[in-house]
Amino acid sequence: MRILLTGAHGQLGNTLCKFLGYETLVPKDLPGFDLARQNIEEEVLEASPDLIIHAGAYTDVDGAEREPDRAMAVNAKGTEQIVKAAVRLGARMVYISTDYVFDGNQKVPYREDDSPHPINQYGLTKWKGEQVVLASGVRALVIRTAWLYGSVGRNFVKSIMCAARTESVLRVVNDQCGCPTYVEDLTAAIMALVGQNVTGIIHVTNRGQCTWFEFAQTIIREMGLPCSVLPITTEQAGRLAKRPHYSVLSSDRTVSFGLVLPEWREALTRFVKQAQIPIT
Ligand SMILES: NC(=O)c1ccc[n+]([C@@H]2O[C@H](COP(=O)([O-])OP(=O)(O)OC[C@H]3O[C@@H](n4cnc5c(N)ncnc54)[C@H](OP(=O)(O)O)[C@@H]3O)[C@@H](O)[C@H]2O)c1
Repeated sequence: MRILLTGAHGQLGNTLCKFLGYETLVPKDLPGFDLARQNIEEEVLEASPDLIIHAGAYTDVDGAEREPDRAMAVNAKGTEQIVKAAVRLGARMVYISTDYVFDGNQKVPYREDDSPHPINQYGLTKWKGEQVVLASGVRALVIRTAWLYGSVGRNFVKSIMCAARTESVLRVVNDQCGCPTYVEDLTAAIMALVGQNVTGIIHVTNRGQCTWFEFAQTIIREMGLPCSVLPITTEQAGRLAKRPHYSVLSSDRTVSFGLVLPEWREALTRFVKQAQIPIT
């Protein structure tokens, strides 16, 4: 099977590359492959994949508020071009989406059939991408995931690990609750779902839930550092984009395919033990 992967240099893409091996893989990313460019469809057609894993995206949540047109061009219009190529090739498609398609007003885990209602530009553009994929008739799997971390790229775990080495106190938001997810576990789940020919929308995260504050406390405890963490509110954090207060995703559908992902604390322990994090 020939697989074209977008976002190949990102934190998920990098792990997928390692998992898949380069012989079946056509990795695509900036700067050579820009989803906001007009000729992307042709480039995908030339590669002639059987499966497209579309992980590439404009992922800077606050940046998307500052440049919504760019975020829309990459996440929605770029996805539209990928989908057109998939339709012409008869290729299968996996689209990686986000918990930020939800508004966070719910008090119980979001299921696949709950209605999206994004409250920021990033969530809106990713939801548009989902709609394009699902309306196309292509054999597609839309995987919504959340709070990703891994050894490559920028993420919350690496930021906290770096900060905890130099600071004695960190202030972290305690009124947003979600599902931290290790890209290694997500990658294994993606390939298992592809292997089972699953289609439609599915939520895939590590099991359990926490706030960013609880997540930070656990990271620092794992590292055995004396740094303390103080809880603050979303308002006090003063970020540009609104974030859902609750974006926990139900894993019932994933479990129905026999996939039980590790609990988030177990995944984090594994990551912290393995991580070779340079201090930057
Ligand atoms: N990170 C999360 O917490 C999270 C949560 C839920 C869902 N997701 C979704 O999961 C997927 C993977 O996320 P990730 O954390 O691996 O993100 P990431 O590390 O930011 O990787 C995304 C990749 O896409 C590339 N990209 C950005 N703009 C592009 C463009 N115009 N054309 C082509 N490629 C472009 C990025 O390149 P540059 O680095 O050079 O910009 C990067 O290599 C994304 O679809 C994201 O929306 C992420």
